[in-house]
Amino acid sequence: MALPPGANDGARPRRIGVVAAMHPELAAVLGRMPDEQRQRVAGRDFRVGHWHGHEVVAVLSGVGKVAAATTATLLIERFGVGALLFTGTAGGLGEGVKVGDLVLASSFVQHDMDASPLFPRFEVPLYGRARFDTDGPLSARVAQAARQVLADASATLGVDAVAEFALHAPTLHAGLILSGDRFVATSAESAALRQALPEALAVEMEGAAVAQVCHDWALPFAALRTVSDRADDSAHVDFMRFIDQVASRYSAAVLEAYFSSL
Ligand code: ADE
Repeated sequence: MALPPGANDGARPRRIGVVAAMHPELAAVLGRMPDEQRQRVAGRDFRVGHWHGHEVVAVLSGVGKVAAATTATLLIERFGVGALLFTGTAGGLGEGVKVGDLVLASSFVQHDMDASPLFPRFEVPLYGRARFDTDGPLSARVAQAARQVLADASATLGVDAVAEFALHAPTLHAGLILSGDRFVATSAESAALRQALPEALAVEMEGAAVAQVCHDWALPFAALRTVSDRADDSAHVDFMRFIDQVASRYSAAVLEAYFSSL
């Protein structure tokens, strides 16, 4: 039986939304979608096309939770995607989560959500939960693609980028990622986050919003981030160059491996 546009077949959605927060990452993705057609909605360019024969809508989310939630909602309601994949960077929080590693979210928490004393800290009021999980089967496929890329990181990044950023044996981690409308760039703030949420692997600015939107529509969501910094006093140093030289190359390679595996 033919599936309607966007419908899902387990971990193989018919039409998938690919979202990145920063422009160079999306540029690396668009280079792989030769037939992409641009549609502008609400100030965003949605690129509709195919990747290894799979329907893809690629878009820049913008930075922060509101921009990401709006983008996710448009992907679902206007473009009929059946699943969402988010790619980008994050600041490492967990012990052993180092620059150049990849983090796959198993769940998200908004670290700046606090309606206490009405509700427990971090809980999203009226949802009765602080954590929003990603999709297991979709994440497992992305993890497989990420491991494939990490097995030969210098083939993806080039030896110069590996040397420039002193990347050593990049690793894939899976677990809790925090999101909030702050670029965490002091050791004091990252220590406070680690103390409040000790399981957290990394922090970024969009994933929890997309996870909540996907929860509302009961759609699968996976998020893979490259660790660009340690969310400390030097978090901003080399940030844009790292995206260009490392994160965008990882994103394109992992998505290439993912779409060719479907
Ligand atoms: N994305 C990448 N690094 C980050 C940080 N330190 N804080 C928030 N978002 C980030």
